[in-house]
Order: sequence, then structure tokens, then C-alpha cells
Amino acid sequence: MGSIRSKIAGLGYYVPETVVSNKELEKLMDTTDAWIQERTGIVERRYGTPHLETTTTIGARAAKNAIEMAGIQAEEIDFIIFATLSPDYYFPGCGVLLQRELKISGSQVGALDIRNQCSGFIYGLSIADQFIRTGQYKNILLVGAEMHSMGLDYTTRGRNVTVIFGDGAGAVVLQPTGEEEPGVINTVLHADGTYAEELAFINPGCHGGYHQQQTDLGYPEGGYGGLFLTQKMWEEQLIFPSMNGQLVFKTAIQKFPEVIGESLHNAGLSIGDVDMLIPHQANLRISQFVQKKLGLPDEKVWNNIQRYGNTTAASIPIALCEAFEAGAIRRNDLVCLAAFGSGFTWGAALMRWAI
Ligand code: COA
Repeated sequence: MGSIRSKIAGLGYYVPETVVSNKELEKLMDTTDAWIQERTGIVERRYGTPHLETTTTIGARAAKNAIEMAGIQAEEIDFIIFATLSPDYYFPGCGVLLQRELKISGSQVGALDIRNQCSGFIYGLSIADQFIRTGQYKNILLVGAEMHSMGLDYTTRGRNVTVIFGDGAGAVVLQPTGEEEPGVINTVLHADGTYAEELAFINPGCHGGYHQQQTDLGYPEGGYGGLFLTQKMWEEQLIFPSMNGQLVFKTAIQKFPEVIGESLHNAGLSIGDVDMLIPHQANLRISQFVQKKLGLPDEKVWNNIQRYGNTTAASIPIALCEAFEAGAIRRNDLVCLAAFGSGFTWGAALMRWAI
């Protein structure tokens, strides 16, 4: 038997129905539609319905679409990979909750959770690709889903983060194919924890103030109780994501072209060979900068952040699915996915489109 590679055999997405415009955010915090559009390109985003939708349930809706397109039954999934930074629970992760939601028998499936934020989908794709190449699994369900709306600061203090993020879910089913057939060519992954706190959701956590020698977070004297969340964190509202926007922007516009170039180089290809670039939807200005730097025309870069905001682990599969449904990606096209985000982590994946 010849060697195998993985291919995307089905894909799907789901975004919650509630549309939240910039104008609506103006009512909650000191911001303007003009500011948000000028700096980020975002016009509106979706918010899930509290109590009725969770990261797992919206992930399940995307997953069902992907499974249907792959032409298989949920029961045939033999491995689940779930990427999110906004899980339903601190633990267990969304992987097992999705397995339960999809009613896949636990005796035939494993579930793995990925915590790589905006690069979560690329990391997940890389893991799925390796598992398929070794022959261990035949139908891997990879989901990226976020319910950011449940954990944002809707006061002016949180405006630089809150206006950017939205809820959504995307999923793909990966299957084996022959080495000569269209499929995943390579993936490249990188990480640099030097900047871990520059884009982070730190509390609640088990850090105990260690990383920043922060002993004034209200931890009980010599005790262990309340290590996750202290009264002080709650009172001072140290319980939301924070971001050094300028550093993230500067680093992102450097790392995106670098990692795309690395992936193409490893495959013996060049930017002129790319038919479609799907950049993680961090900020339209970042995507535009990267597009210009790489010299790609508009029709070879897919952006939808205008309508959904940054949906972190979900942004690439949602964009990929939309591009495919719009007929902008066809069989054998060279598709490049690239991401950068919290960690910092970044990566790229290159594939010949197989559907
Ligand atoms: N509305 C209005 N004003 C805002 C605002 C908002 N939503 N958010 C921040 N501001 C204000 C700041 O308070 C600051 O005011 P000051 O000058 O009076 O102090 C001013 O705008 C500039 O803030 P700054 O953070 O320097 O803005 P910026 O030009 O860097 O733009 C981002 C902010 C977040 C849009 C930009 O840094 C960015 O997009 N970074 C990358 C973010 C990203 O991609 N994150 C996801 C990574 S995967």
C-alpha cells in the first residue's frame, strides 16, 4: 500500500442568529461604529443565546453539517479534536461534551481538546493530519468553536477587546487519501511564550500570581481555597481577557507572511501558486497588510471578519466553508490557511482542495 495523507472530506459552519452591530455596542461602552470599522473592519458580529447555546452546542451544529457533507454517519467518527478558548467548563473539555451531544459511542472514539486560541484550528489540523498519515484514524472530526460573548467586559474598560470578538463555529471531517491525490500537503506550527500575557485571559487560574510576582491578588493567607478566583479579582474585575493590541498587530503582520512563506518553501511552491489564502480573521487591517505584503489579488484572499468579528478557533473553518460554498475554491486548488494569536502561537497549513 502506498503512503497516505489526509484530506478535508466535509466541512460546515454555524453562527448564532443574533446579530450585534457596532451601533449596539455604542450603547454599552464609549466606542463608535466609525472607530471600530476604521481600526478593525468589523461591522457586526453574532452572539449566542445564553442558556440555550454553548460552545459545544454551536460546535455540534457545525459538526453535523460537516459530517453530512462527508457522507458518513456520526457513529463513524473515530476521533474528535475540539479547539476553543471559551470552553463550556474549565474541565472536562468540549471534546467529550461534543461526543455526548453527537451521541457517538464512547467505545469507538477518542476526544482531544486544543488550547491554542487563534491558531487552534491549524494546530488541530496538524494533529489530525499526523493521526491519519499513521493510519490510526479514518474519520477525524475537527471543530473550532467560540462563545466569546459569555466572557467579555461590556464596559468601556474592556472596549479594545470586546468590540473585536464574536461567536461562531466551524468544523471539518478529515479522511485518508492517497499521497498522489489532493489533500493536506504540510502544516507548520510555532510558539513563543515570551508574550503569553500580552493577549490572555488570566483569571480564574492556578497561577497564584507566580508569573508576574503578583502577590496582591487577594489569595487567602497560606491557604489553598479560592486559588482559582479570589474576592479581589471579582471586585476589581480582573476576570476578563486583556490584550496589548499594538504588539499583537505588529507581531501578527510579521508572522503571517513568514509562516506562509515557510509552508510554501517546505512544499517547493511559491506564493504565485496559491489559489486561495484563508487568514485567521483577527483584524481586517492585518489581513489587508498581509495580502499586500504577499502581493495577492483580492480574489485570492477570503475575509469575513466584517460580518462575524474575530471568532478565534472558528474563524478559519467558517471562512473556508464560506469560500467553498461561494465557489471560490475548487478541486485541486492550492489553499493556504494561516493563523496567529495568543501564546503567541502561529502556524500555516497548505493543501490541494479535495472536494
Ligand atoms: N473604541 C474607541 N476607542 C478605543 C477602543 C474602542 N473600541 N479601543 C481602544 N480605544 C482607544 C484607546 O483607549 C486609546 O485611547 P487613548 O489614545 O486615549 O489612550 C486609543 O483608542 C488607541 O488605542 P490603541 O490600543 O493604541 O489602538 P490601536 O490603534 O492599536 O487599535 C486595536 C486597537 C485593538 C484595534 C489594534 O491594536 C488591533 O487590532 N490589534 C490586533 C488585535 C488582534 O488582532 N487581536 C486578535 C489577535 S488573534
